[in-house]
Amino acid sequence: MKTIVIKNYGGPEVLEVTESSIPFITEPSQVLVKVRATSVNPLDYQVRRGDYASHFELPLTTGHDIAGDVITVGEAVKKWKAGDKVYYSPRFGGTGSYAEYHITDESSLSRMPDNLSYEEAAAIPLIGGTVWEMLVVRAQIKKGDRILILGGAGGVGSLAIQVAKSLGAYVYTTGQSILHEKLQHLGADVVIDHHKENWVKKIQSYTSGKGVDVIIDTVGGSTLSDSPLALADYGAVVTLVDIAQPQNLIHAWEKNATYHFVFTRQSRDELHHITQLIETGQIKPVIDSIYPLEEIQKAHQRIEDSQRDRPLLGKIVLSL
Ligand SMILES: NC(=O)c1ccc[n+]([C@@H]2O[C@H](COP(=O)([O-])OP(=O)(O)OC[C@H]3O[C@@H](n4cnc5c(N)ncnc54)[C@H](OP(=O)(O)O)[C@@H]3O)[C@@H](O)[C@H]2O)c1
Repeated sequence: MKTIVIKNYGGPEVLEVTESSIPFITEPSQVLVKVRATSVNPLDYQVRRGDYASHFELPLTTGHDIAGDVITVGEAVKKWKAGDKVYYSPRFGGTGSYAEYHITDESSLSRMPDNLSYEEAAAIPLIGGTVWEMLVVRAQIKKGDRILILGGAGGVGSLAIQVAKSLGAYVYTTGQSILHEKLQHLGADVVIDHHKENWVKKIQSYTSGKGVDVIIDTVGGSTLSDSPLALADYGAVVTLVDIAQPQNLIHAWEKNATYHFVFTRQSRDELHHITQLIETGQIKPVIDSIYPLEEIQKAHQRIEDSQRDRPLLGKIVLSL
């Protein structure tokens, strides 16, 4: 089978297309899945660069999303059978999704939504669970809340806008001017161009100094320090990003703010909620581009390129 292997940590050039044998089931609760599509997440290039070197042994295969078909199941597996369409996020630290076949424990599988193609479905598992965790489990968004999503055009942001809207929130987000119409189409009420405008000042002005109830941070930098300046009293900040630089939280104290730090664990229950929103037509995957698996290096170049001629909107998918 075709497999993308990383033998040494480095840039996109270390992603090698190789041939290897199809893996086989070794435990009764395992399932063999034919991968029809996968996608690129920042986590993949972070693994490729060696940011998580202590969690892996080289050579390795990365990739954190799968949409595909069950091929065979272990003897203890009762819920799944050959031919079932499934989607899931492979366990962090294990063998990833950049290959034609993948072995997983049955507990990680979710039924693929009826109304999606494999490519659309592969855009969802990692970010789907993440968005549900941020908005519902942590921020407990409710109808009428005012929410600011930093990084609205990214994989996480483009789904978070839609989920926030489906929960009845009033949505502010950041994104380049050329994408404003598309972000509004996804459900954003107000879009701020982060390349031209200061989002703290814009939020203060839009809310007459009151601030928003929740800030979702997919960007990092000085966000944890800056957020309280755009936050309402007793507001919440939910961040996904590991921020190495020191942050000054004096204004967080003045606002009685709550901070949540999210590192997604694979969760079938959270993905199940996202599946329901997809099947009822309330949200949909946003696909930036689709590459064949063999063009994995180009796909990584696109997600990491800070000088892109066309800005990123949604997910980069790999088709097999
Ligand atoms: N902790 C977890 O469990 C978890 C899970 C998923 C993702 N993450 C992390 O969350 C981050 C976002 O993931 P993603 O998949 O959404 O990434 P992505 O698809 O690469 O999107 C990043 C987006 O952020 C925007 N952006 C960059 N700098 C910005 C700034 N200063 N202000 C406003 N927007 C800015 C980019 O816009 P431009 O094109 O204009 O730069 C782009 O639209 C990554 O760091 C990822 O590692 C963490």
